[in-house]
Amino acid sequence: MLRSLWFLLLVAFTDAQGYRFRNEFPGPYCAARKYDECCRDRQDGCAQPISTTLCYCDEFCDRGEHGDCCPDYEEVCLGMPATTSPPDNTFACLHKKRYFTPYDPPIVDNCNTCKCNMDGSVSCTENVCLVDDEILTQLQHLERSVGWTASNYSEWWGRTYDEGKVLRLGTFQPKRPTKAMKRLTNKGGVLPSQFDASEYWPGLVGEARDQGWCGSSWAVSTAAMSSDRFAIKSKGHEKVQLAPQQMLACAVRQQGCHGGHLDSAWQYVRKVGLVNEECYPYIAAKNVCKIRNSDTLITANCEPPATVNRTEKYRMGPAVLLNNETDIMMEIKEGGTVQALLRVYRDFFSYKRGIYRHSAAATPADERAAYHSVRLIGWGEELVGYARVKYWIAINSWGQWWGENGRFRILRGSNECEIESYVLASKPYLNENVREVGKVGQLQELIVGTGYAPYPSRRYPPYGSSS
Ligand SMILES: *[C@@H]1O[C@H](CO)[C@@H](O)[C@H](O)[C@H]1NC(C)=O
Ligand SMILES: *[C@@H]1O[C@H](CO)[C@@H](O)[C@H](O)[C@H]1NC(C)=O
Ligand SMILES: *[C@@H]1O[C@H](CO)[C@@H](O)[C@H](O)[C@H]1NC(C)=O
Repeated sequence: MLRSLWFLLLVAFTDAQGYRFRNEFPGPYCAARKYDECCRDRQDGCAQPISTTLCYCDEFCDRGEHGDCCPDYEEVCLGMPATTSPPDNTFACLHKKRYFTPYDPPIVDNCNTCKCNMDGSVSCTENVCLVDDEILTQLQHLERSVGWTASNYSEWWGRTYDEGKVLRLGTFQPKRPTKAMKRLTNKGGVLPSQFDASEYWPGLVGEARDQGWCGSSWAVSTAAMSSDRFAIKSKGHEKVQLAPQQMLACAVRQQGCHGGHLDSAWQYVRKVGLVNEECYPYIAAKNVCKIRNSDTLITANCEPPATVNRTEKYRMGPAVLLNNETDIMMEIKEGGTVQALLRVYRDFFSYKRGIYRHSAAATPADERAAYHSVRLIGWGEELVGYARVKYWIAINSWGQWWGENGRFRILRGSNECEIESYVLASKPYLNENVREVGKVGQLQELIVGTGYAPYPSRRYPPYGSSS
């Protein structure tokens, strides 16, 4: 009878495997054989059932990695000392006040995992975590000098800094030619010392959304600024939440949840146009594109708005770059929220309240810059000690649990985190504009042909359903 090769698994005894083997199959086996516990040479009958197969107590079983001895063979047949527990020096490792053994699963320590070695030493992976006690302590000490307060957000624990940079941000630094994009200079005018678009246009500026663990800020901030501007310019008639998911799924030459360029995003919104959020809900992942470039809201199966006769997708004019602090302020006051690129440092993730500026806290020396895009919605100034500190009010896309209800304030006038070097604005094509560009006949036809209101809702089936 050919012996089963099953035992290949059980035999290549290192100390550790042997120990685990004996723990899992305590036996007795050889010791339980009635007449002759152990046999000489090869004797196929000299076996005991174990698990779903047999193990052997003859000399032939002892063949190194091809062996198939019973777990207690060495102890019973060779008279070697029983190793029911591992030698003392391999028993326990200590990591952050927790004891564990080489046979336990690795310990998770924030964004790293630690395993216990046979010699009692501990080896951990060496990722820089998105947040840790060290940076939080440093930020606490720095609080008065930097002027903002940090928070210990549980959402960041267990994540690496790289994960945060890829999946919580997601806007690439502009390519050189785009930096030379047309700059817009606003006519001078009187600017108030405080301005908040969400108070100036109540109900027309969208609050912070949560992009989730998807590096989609390029799409989220573009859609959010477009939505704000449609609502503001139409004085509330075209109040709509536009769908970042459409860009995430459909914009070619972008990298979905691994980031995108703002100039391409604006080209997409200008040439193709966006549908509304209900029609293409955000799922924080790339999915199959369901909107053709030529679609109207009708052919895309979106429910057209009830307040205006719109059947075209929502398109924006070309994006323009704003020159400097005063131009940015003027544009916000005249046109609504703007989009700003922001260089992100590690401490930004822990911002809770105050006027942000990046600190020296625990930023890895060899770090590669990561960029994010947000909306600027206003500005103000605050007396900190005897100093007048100017700030921008910005809306992030990490949900309202972060920062000042999803917003943050950041130093103004000193290009903090490069926030003043790439600020974009664009004008919406309101419903009237859609008519003006020669679509009147077509639009009327569609409105008449479909009975327009109330147009039956044929939204997409939920994602994940098979149809
Ligand atoms: C932050 O919170 C985590 C649990 O979420 C806790 O283990 C850690 O000690 C906290 N650190 C500080 C500095 O508060
Ligand atoms: C939509 O168009 C129809 C037909 O031109 C018109 O009667 C109606 O008043 C329009 N509705 C709105 C909200 O503009
Ligand atoms: C911004 O630029 C405009 C002209 O482009 C200029 O009039 C204005 O003074 C500048 N503002 C600042 C703060 O430099």
